[in-house]
Amino acid sequence: MKILVINGPNLNMLGIREPSIYGKNTYADLVGMIEEHAKKTGVCVECYQSNHEGCLVDKIQEAYGNTDGIVINPGAYTHTSVAILDALKSVGIPTVEVHISDVDSREEFRKISYITSYCAKRITGKGFDGYLEAMDFLCEK
Ligand code: DQA
Repeated sequence: MKILVINGPNLNMLGIREPSIYGKNTYADLVGMIEEHAKKTGVCVECYQSNHEGCLVDKIQEAYGNTDGIVINPGAYTHTSVAILDALKSVGIPTVEVHISDVDSREEFRKISYITSYCAKRITGKGFDGYLEAMDFLCEK
């Protein structure tokens, strides 16, 4: 089982950005948690982060034919990106959408997600644990 975990813009700033919303733990802490969980559950995992929409599209395309599941938090691109939706649809890999914060209880624009229609599951407001829940969901699929 190979899972690709993709994080979009500003998620490299975890621990620094708005800690009251996203917590005090860093992106490195998140990757550590994901890798430890993967080891425990016997999953092969790759973590990728980019601030650039096209790089996220490239990474999704590169997963075609060699990845069993994608966990994606597209950050702000969640609310704007048809390109990321189209990339996910192009590769056809089972995908879970994750948000650290409870996006549905924040600003109106955060309630819009371009990728939800494609994703097998959406996990919001569970902090870093949401990523682990997403991995487990993909393994059970
Ligand atoms: C986020 C929520 C988005 O609205 C925001 O732009 C992010 C992070 C989250 O994980 O809660 O960058 O996806």
